Amino acid sequence: MSDRDLAARRLLVVTEEELQHLVLDIHDGPVQNLFAALSQLSLLRARMAALSEAPIECAPALTRAIGLLELSLNDIRSLIGAFHAPEFAGRGLAEIIEDLAVQHETLTGGAVALEIVNPLPVAPLTVKIALYRILQEALSNIHRHAGVNAAAVRAWAEGERLCLEVADAGRGFQPPPLSGPEATERHEHIGLRGMRERAALVNGEICVDSRPGRGTRVRAEIPLNG
Ligand SMILES: Nc1ncnc2c1ncn2[C@@H]1O[C@H](COP(=O)(O)OP(=O)(O)OP(=O)(O)O)[C@@H](O)[C@H]1O
Ligand SMILES: [Mg+2]
Repeated sequence: MSDRDLAARRLLVVTEEELQHLVLDIHDGPVQNLFAALSQLSLLRARMAALSEAPIECAPALTRAIGLLELSLNDIRSLIGAFHAPEFAGRGLAEIIEDLAVQHETLTGGAVALEIVNPLPVAPLTVKIALYRILQEALSNIHRHAGVNAAAVRAWAEGERLCLEVADAGRGFQPPPLSGPEATERHEHIGLRGMRERAALVNGEICVDSRPGRGTRVRAEIPLNG
């Protein structure tokens, strides 16, 4: 393996570690402070309600502030929940995929039809992480953009490659070219680019097959040895 390949592998694991640190930092820092602020404001509102001469504009303003804080906390909670990765090392790929599908159903109320063709071979950590993040983004895109709440996920091994397909029968889109001089991915859309980069880090490929009105099929193919 070349130095460059080694560096890319390390990057994949380091990036995931950094992400987990970030999740914990957000949870332990700003989230705790927001909670504290919320309880202070709730206390203040209760005290004010007991006062007969409190200025009348204060109560609605406090209620608005409390509502905003609650909204932010819920948003942050679901964001860091989605990015808090499960423990990868001790679990097989099939279990990781199954759990993510169930988690997606619980979070979105959508349905994921999952087919794991034959027992999947043992995959290295880097491959498990890459496939997990690719599946997470593909499911999230279906929920956010496809206009349907059903997804079909299929995983199988083909020779020395692991394949993962995530399909929906939703509104579809014209996928931008993913590579080459014609690549036109817009900067604000990092999902498709991220999927491709994660696959590339383990020498794999992503293919996005979609057309307006014809649904979307994302397929990842990753060599078993990463
Ligand atoms: N399953 C899908 N069905 C319909 N449209 C899709 C689907 N997946 C992606 N798209 C379209 O492709 C665009 C780019 O997707 P991409 O994941 O790169 O960015 P995004 O989801 O908009 O933002 P983010 O950077 O948060 O992922 C989306 O904005 C959407 O228009
Ligand atoms: Mg996306």
